Amino acid sequence: MIIALNNKSNLEKEEFESYLEGLESIQTDETIILCPTFLNIGATNSSLKIGSQNVSINENGAYTGEISATQLKSYHVQYAIVGHSERREYQRETNEEINLKVKQLLKNDITPILCIGESLEERNKNQVKEVLTKELLIAIKDVTEEEQAKIIIAYEPIWSIGTGIIPTNDQIEEVFEEIKKIVPKSKILYGGSANEENIDQLKLINAIDGYLLGGLSLKLDKLKIFLQKIH
Ligand code: PGA
Repeated sequence: MIIALNNKSNLEKEEFESYLEGLESIQTDETIILCPTFLNIGATNSSLKIGSQNVSINENGAYTGEISATQLKSYHVQYAIVGHSERREYQRETNEEINLKVKQLLKNDITPILCIGESLEERNKNQVKEVLTKELLIAIKDVTEEEQAKIIIAYEPIWSIGTGIIPTNDQIEEVFEEIKKIVPKSKILYGGSANEENIDQLKLINAIDGYLLGGLSLKLDKLKIFLQKIH
């Protein structure tokens, strides 16, 4: 299974050093992808697979404050989260920008972890399929089928992120089926309050290829239990 750890904007220099030591000591057969802040990416020469939490829509150049896909590649970054709902909300990131990011990453052999998800309001209005289909179709616009297959999709309902609330297994399965209709070969992760307790319920879903973990990525003792219970 793929376990992507989204540290978000957490862990200062020294905290990250001891965190990394702890994380590397966890024995597991799962594919762990650590997604730290850009600064912490620069500070690690870990043997773990590394992902970023964002990428520039542009190549290198006069784009103050941005980090390009080629720069990430030069730091051996193999994955990048794109379209996280926090960026969509706070940075006003659009589906069109996410599409440009996906293409920058694929061009540089970095695997996009493309986040899609509906708000509670959209779910209550029965707009889940519509919203997710739109997010997905625009994000993969002008991407060949062969390249689409390389993209990892992370289904993260916005109302689940950091709230402790997770969808029912039926709700997740329904969404995964819709995603599979568009990108049948892509791996699909679930993200949103996944933890060492609700993994007992989540693991009953056969279609899940892994998890994108936010809060749990920072609690190594609980992450360890999660990994032990994952199959
Ligand atoms: P959470 O975050 O696990 O803390 O809900 C997941 C995410 O935002 O990627």
